[in-house]
Amino acid sequence: MGNVRPENMERIVNEAQAKAFIDEQIRSIKAQVGNGKVLLALSGGVDSSVCAALLIKAIGQNLICVHVNHGLLRKGEPEQVIEVFRNQMKANLVYVDAVDRFLDKLAGVAEPETKRKIIGAEFIRVFEEEARKLKDVGFLAQGTIYPDILESEKGVKAHHNVGGLPEDLKFELVEPVKFLFKDEVRVVGKALGLPDSMVYRQPFPGPGLGVRCLGAITRDRLEAVRESDAILREEFAKNGLQGKVWQYFTIIPDFKSTGIKDGNRTYAYPVIIRAVNTKDAMAATVEELPYKLLSHIVDRITKEVKGVNRVVYDLTPKPSGTIEWE
Ligand code: XMP
Repeated sequence: MGNVRPENMERIVNEAQAKAFIDEQIRSIKAQVGNGKVLLALSGGVDSSVCAALLIKAIGQNLICVHVNHGLLRKGEPEQVIEVFRNQMKANLVYVDAVDRFLDKLAGVAEPETKRKIIGAEFIRVFEEEARKLKDVGFLAQGTIYPDILESEKGVKAHHNVGGLPEDLKFELVEPVKFLFKDEVRVVGKALGLPDSMVYRQPFPGPGLGVRCLGAITRDRLEAVRESDAILREEFAKNGLQGKVWQYFTIIPDFKSTGIKDGNRTYAYPVIIRAVNTKDAMAATVEELPYKLLSHIVDRITKEVKGVNRVVYDLTPKPSGTIEWE
């Protein structure tokens, strides 16, 4: 009970069904929270963005969105969250610049799982601090979706995005999209007027670019990952691969190789490109990118990204390689 999708619930595939769902959720959110205040950690991912947009429609300024910039987001992401939610939707948005805080905590930490733990724990701490600053907040909204519930029941992963808040911070949960599958969340997001770049976003891990800047994170390599990722995304969008390839990104290892620039020897970082297709992320195949496009991307990255002199394409399917490198 409570966490089982109703058997008679139709799969949401079109705008009319999405609009009906939105109206029903607005009524149900209003009935649950009344004049109460609701807090939401807004990452800018599809699930939390759809959840936010629904709550803004239902309760307006009584929703307080907290966007934590941990410094590991992709180029333009924090700006997009501010533009869409604060400027366009007039949301009550708290933007927390926690970049230095996260990067200081991560300095010198090379072990991948330790990096993940530090990022997760620090996120909860920042969110907790923001929650304590606010008065009279009784509810916590989460963009939990149905696969999260199914997976947490199987013990695959904990579905609470901000699980781990201390006991004395007690909130009643508001989870308006918890019975939706990912494709339905996207249809609802589109009907709510969210931009395509948010609605059709490729998956992006919670620890973000932190697991793509291999080993101990340094600011110069992190910047190079961000810049090369932006070039890759731009070229994929220009060449009709956005929305076609399941996940694509760049990685920077923590070693250098020799190269030449303007007749001089360089000693700089390589960029690794990953572009894969999968249904469920358990197994993945590599996208057969056109050679001409690959060469163009290599040319742009080596010319435009500081500290990089070489680009390689990872041809390894999963298994044996995982999708991420850490
Ligand atoms: P792997 O690397 O295990 O990735 O083949 C499978 C999918 O999961 C994503 N991924 C993560 N997502 N936190 C997340 O929220 C993580 O720590 C994490 N690690 C991997 C990965 O991007 C891919 O889509």
